[in-house]
Amino acid sequence: MTTILLRGGTVVGETSSSRGDVLIKDGRLSEVGDSLAVPKGATVIDAEGCWVGPGFVDLHAHLREPGREEAETIDSGARAAAVGGYSAIVAMPNTEPALDNAALVAYVLARGATTPIDVAVAGAITQGRLGSHLAPLAEMAALGVRLFTDDGIGVQDPAVMRRALSYAKPLDVRLAQHCEDEQLAAGGTMNEGPWSSRLGLVGRPALAEELMVLRDIELVRLTGCPLHFLHLSTARSVALVLAAKREGLPVTCEVAPHHLSLDESVLATFDPLFKVHPPLRSAEDVDALRASLVAGEIDAVATDHAPHAPELKDLPFDEAPPGMLGLEHAASLTFSALGAETANEQRFFSVLSRAPARIAQLRASDVRPAHGAHGGSMTPGEDANIVVFDPTVRWTVSREALQSRATNTPYDGRELRGRVRALVAKGQVVVSEGQLT
Ligand code: DOR
Repeated sequence: MTTILLRGGTVVGETSSSRGDVLIKDGRLSEVGDSLAVPKGATVIDAEGCWVGPGFVDLHAHLREPGREEAETIDSGARAAAVGGYSAIVAMPNTEPALDNAALVAYVLARGATTPIDVAVAGAITQGRLGSHLAPLAEMAALGVRLFTDDGIGVQDPAVMRRALSYAKPLDVRLAQHCEDEQLAAGGTMNEGPWSSRLGLVGRPALAEELMVLRDIELVRLTGCPLHFLHLSTARSVALVLAAKREGLPVTCEVAPHHLSLDESVLATFDPLFKVHPPLRSAEDVDALRASLVAGEIDAVATDHAPHAPELKDLPFDEAPPGMLGLEHAASLTFSALGAETANEQRFFSVLSRAPARIAQLRASDVRPAHGAHGGSMTPGEDANIVVFDPTVRWTVSREALQSRATNTPYDGRELRGRVRALVAKGQVVVSEGQLT
């Protein structure tokens, strides 16, 4: 029997917000109202000045287990996610070995169930993520997997991608594509353009991403199977997906916080912390992505949380692996990308919680064993997965203070705006005053 009262915040519903208290009883949101009485024995959390909404849902977390536990484990990744306000995350399948079969999916789900939040799994599209033979999608779907991707690399062969989409359609699952044509991107370590010329680094052209977006939109048209575009980084990619949506095609897209906050000029330091795939793009792309986010043209912000051990990220720029941490600062960066004081709180919860929950089929209406419901509308009866976000606070990222096992954040020492104050996940207070309980 747990009773929790979130007192005095702005409760953010789907279309409107209201000031009030939120009462949680035995794992469910029980009441929303003004000046609710404090039940005996309740844990009271001060939400004054804060936004209170559905816990965030991350579509894109690399948890590295099995195989790279020195960088992250399911447990450490889940704790990092909780501090970042996530009540549910989707674990990416580019582990070692890849999550390309039911036994490995079951392993990750079982480990995830011991963490304070819900851990869902994205299965690989192809065996070993090698791009040639389909993985047993139906066996993984039977365990509740609803997203499939070879992320880290895109499915290069259009015939394989077509077959995957045709096969996935009757399973009621969604494929998710890492869009980069490996032949066009070959050897590249940053965005191709004036900066790569100046720095003498081989570039990964925007076209490498956009060509695969274009190709896959046509494959969706052919097969009718839904597709989610992962970490889009160029203005044109987002415009292509928007045009496809307007045609009625079942496509969705996400952007990563780093593509909303950093442009390619930071590569002038040659610091491998800024190396990521797809690469940081031009300042014009960053501005266009932010404008699209504000305009509601991007479904979700997803972290692409990519922990790497220090000995790898300290390698020379050309040799270091791509990727940076995301879970613990994504909400703050999203808040700033939405304009901070001008940010619309409905949009904030749409891109961080409600839309990703819909894409991952984690809402109450999506029947799935083993997981609670996420991305709710803050109405009584819902599972209590709720975050309290303080939009007024400023804080400084310190890599030593992160919950993640890795420290490869490019934001160390940076002041950010807005921070998660509390998280209720699986009906329990998991984060209070910004700290794990
Ligand atoms: O930079 C990246 N790192 N992009 C990806 O798509 C994969 C990720 C990783 O797993 O490290």
